[in-house]
Amino acid sequence: MCLCWCHRGVTPPTGVVKSVSSIRFLLDGEIIRVDNPEPTRSVLQYLREDLNRTGSKEGCAEGDCGACTVVVAEAVDGKIRYRAVNACIQFLSTLNGKALYTVESLKQPDGGLHPVQQSLVDYHASQCGFCTPGFVMSLFALYQNGVNPDRATLDDVLSGNLCRCTGYGPIIEAGMHMKDYPLIEQDELRLIDRLNALKPDQELNITSSAGSYHAPVSLEELANLYLLNPDASILAGGTDVGLWVTKQLRELNQVIYLGNVDELKRINETASAIEIGAAVTLEDAFAVLANSYPELSELFRRFASMPVRHAGTLVGNIANGSPIGDSMPVLIAIGARIKLRQGSATREMALQDLYLGYQKNAMQAGEFIESVMIPAREAGLVLSSYKLAKRFDQDISALCAAFALRLDGDKVSDIKIAFGGMAAIPKRASQTEDFLTGKSWSEENIQQGMELLKLDFQPLSDMRASAAYRSQASANLLYRFYLETRSKTPLNVFEVCA
Ligand SMILES: Cc1cc2nc3c(=O)[nH]c(=O)nc-3n(C[C@H](O)[C@H](O)[C@H](O)COP(=O)(O)OP(=O)(O)OC[C@H]3O[C@@H](n4cnc5c(N)ncnc54)[C@H](O)[C@@H]3O)c2cc1C
Ligand code: FES
Ligand code: FES
Repeated sequence: MCLCWCHRGVTPPTGVVKSVSSIRFLLDGEIIRVDNPEPTRSVLQYLREDLNRTGSKEGCAEGDCGACTVVVAEAVDGKIRYRAVNACIQFLSTLNGKALYTVESLKQPDGGLHPVQQSLVDYHASQCGFCTPGFVMSLFALYQNGVNPDRATLDDVLSGNLCRCTGYGPIIEAGMHMKDYPLIEQDELRLIDRLNALKPDQELNITSSAGSYHAPVSLEELANLYLLNPDASILAGGTDVGLWVTKQLRELNQVIYLGNVDELKRINETASAIEIGAAVTLEDAFAVLANSYPELSELFRRFASMPVRHAGTLVGNIANGSPIGDSMPVLIAIGARIKLRQGSATREMALQDLYLGYQKNAMQAGEFIESVMIPAREAGLVLSSYKLAKRFDQDISALCAAFALRLDGDKVSDIKIAFGGMAAIPKRASQTEDFLTGKSWSEENIQQGMELLKLDFQPLSDMRASAAYRSQASANLLYRFYLETRSKTPLNVFEVCA
């Protein structure tokens, strides 16, 4: 069904919105135009089935293995930004106005290999070969961004690429040396001009037998469109929505994409808050938040993988409202608020009030999250968030804990404790908080608090963890937070484990 004004027989609130029905993007320097692409066709399907570019592989079709990694470039603040993303869960239409690079794009004019590829060959970094194009592309994004990587950067950049034949050593070695080869010159200014010329300035309205896809270019258009079509699926980075299509085989017959709305791409820092728009990616949001809250850096690094963080948004994580979502416990603990929009009306609420029950939230029909407001760092705040999962990188939490503490001398003047993975929604430990507030920050009180946590939560058993494990581990994390923050001989777990 088409959502645009002309097909609904209604008068748009602000006059007719001009729109187009084809997308344009750059591939190997050529402008590619696709008329009326299927709304949920993935970039990977398009590459492999329509263009016969089969270098990008399909492994998992859910953003986990990295075999499908491609690089998307955009002009941002007068520079080109190259980012590796998972082609299997990225919808083709989201490429509108961008440049796409696949492993085939790296072929040099003389037929030779790109430095990234040469380095992988020279350091014997390919065994099965199936996953190799994905590794090449993650490293290519790094190369294009001019980064001379150290080991930690490479670990992070490759967090979304699985090699099951234990080839990581040589792959990392190849990444360390890819800059040793003669540099490939690139005409960045020309690319910026070309991307600026392709930047969407009109709403994209695609209608096909498979459904419709709409990408408004202003907040007002978006709000009006969603108000009139509250059953449409909002698409931000697609790292949850993409899986509805590839794994749940759901047919989305109305999609409204947020990614072309400039107002939603902003991060606004004031003296009191950091406001992050609904189209800001996890990677960009985390980079800013880590400046104010450096103790969250590990949590941010362990959130999915770099390609997922390049596509997914912070607000998408909040809106999705998964009980095991990683950003919500800590955002709730530090008092984040959200701005909701329904047509031209806006309202604010504390993030914790958004969640009413499993997959139930306080958003009304046609209402969406415009931004999330995170309070500016307050002096005296003691903060930690811990993620427990089976793997360090790219794994879903069994539970995720956040503690925000303020002390007055040795007394707790305020404590917020929030958990993911312990209930049907991200939830605060109200009874434990009430008990600890006003008490001294002492071993004895913490031991009692650990017992009270069992009243706050009755977790479930599932494939990630048993209820008993979750109960015990949540109490242990409170104890760990205490040990790390007590005034006498605070514990440094990294020293203890070393
Ligand atoms: C391989 C992989 C690993 C992952 N690892 C993690 C992890 O470690 N931790 C974690 O928490 N999550 C993880 N995720 C989940 C996902 O990446 C996050 O939830 C992400 O933040 C979703 O953002 P998005 O922009 O991609 O949302 P989308 O997929 O576009 O949307 C998600 C949901 O929110 C709705 N929505 C989006 N924006 C708005 C808005 N502004 N207003 C109202 N509704 C909106 C959509 O309609 C949809 O229901 C992982 C996903 C994958 C594929
Ligand atoms: S096919 Fe595995 S991440 Fe895309
Ligand atoms: S090279 Fe493919 S699994 Fe290691």
